[in-house]
Amino acid sequence: MKEMKEIVVIKLGGSTLSEMDNNLKEIADLHISGIPVVIVHGGGALISEWMNKLEIKTDFIDGLRVTDENSIQIVTSILGGLVNKTLVASIINKNCKAIGLSGIDDNIFTAKFLDQTHGYVGNIINTNSEFVELLLNKEYLPVIAPIAINNELIDPPLLNINGDIAASALAVSLQADKLIFLTDVDGVLDENSKLISTLNTAQSKSLISNGTAKSGMIPKINSCIDAVESNVESFIINGTKYGNLTSIIKNSESVGTKFLV
Ligand SMILES: Nc1ncnc2c1ncn2[C@@H]1O[C@H](COP(=O)(O)OP(=O)(O)OP(=O)(O)O)[C@@H](O)[C@H]1O
Ligand SMILES: [Mg+2]
Repeated sequence: MKEMKEIVVIKLGGSTLSEMDNNLKEIADLHISGIPVVIVHGGGALISEWMNKLEIKTDFIDGLRVTDENSIQIVTSILGGLVNKTLVASIINKNCKAIGLSGIDDNIFTAKFLDQTHGYVGNIINTNSEFVELLLNKEYLPVIAPIAINNELIDPPLLNINGDIAASALAVSLQADKLIFLTDVDGVLDENSKLISTLNTAQSKSLISNGTAKSGMIPKINSCIDAVESNVESFIINGTKYGNLTSIIKNSESVGTKFLV
C-alpha cells in the first residue's frame, strides 16, 4: 500500500450535503489529479427527514440516535441507498471513477452493540480495508456508508455506526496520510465562537469536558485524537467553502482546525 501515493480519507458530513456540488467537484478533481481518495459519508439529517415522513419517532442520547428495529431499516436504506448512490452518481458525473459500498461489504466494519440503551448502534471492533485498497490500486474512489456487520447472532445483523468514528478507523487501517472532516462550521470553535487553528490531545479533551465542544463535534474531535495518535494527520474544515480542501492538501493556506499529538 505504501508504494501508492499518500491516501486521503475524507469524512463528508451529512451537514454539507446541501453544498454537495462544490465539495464533490473539489474531491473529484483531487482524485483525478492522482491522489488516492476515500470518502466516508454521514447523512443524519436525511435519516431524520425520512423518519418524519414515515412517522417513526427519533430520540438521541449523548448525540447518538437511538436505533430500534424500524430505525435500523431506515438508517440502512437511507445511508447505504439514497445518500450513497446519490454521491456516487454525482462523482461519476464529474468524470471520476467511483464505487459505492457500505461498511457491510467485505466486512469493512465489524461492530458489537454499544450498550443496552441505544439499540442497533455499534461500536467498531474490527476494520478490514483490504477491498478499499484494491479499489484504490485500480484508481477508483470508494464511497462508504457507515453501517457495520453485527458480530452477534441477531437479526438483522446490522448496526448503525458513527460516520466520524468509521472514517477515523478506516484512515488508521489504511495508514492514510490525512484524515479530513468536511463539516458545516469552520472547524472547532472556542467559547467565543472563534476558530481554534491547532489543538493537541489535552486541549481537545478539555474542550469536551468543559462543554465547549458538544453534540456532533464530540465524536469528530475524538476521532481526530485517535487518528493523530496513529500518525494520520487530522483536520476539521468547512466543507461548504470551495477551495478549503485544496488548501489543506497543498499546505498552501491554514484553514480549519489541525490536530497535533
Ligand atoms: N465547539 C464547537 N465548534 C464547532 N462546532 C460545534 C462545537 N460544538 C458543537 N458543534 C456542532 O457540531 C456540528 C457539526 O457536527 P454534525 O454532526 O452536526 O455535522 P456532520 O458530522 O458534518 O454531519 P453528519 O453527522 O450528518 O455526518 C456543528 O454544526 C455545530 O453545531
Ligand atoms: Mg456528525
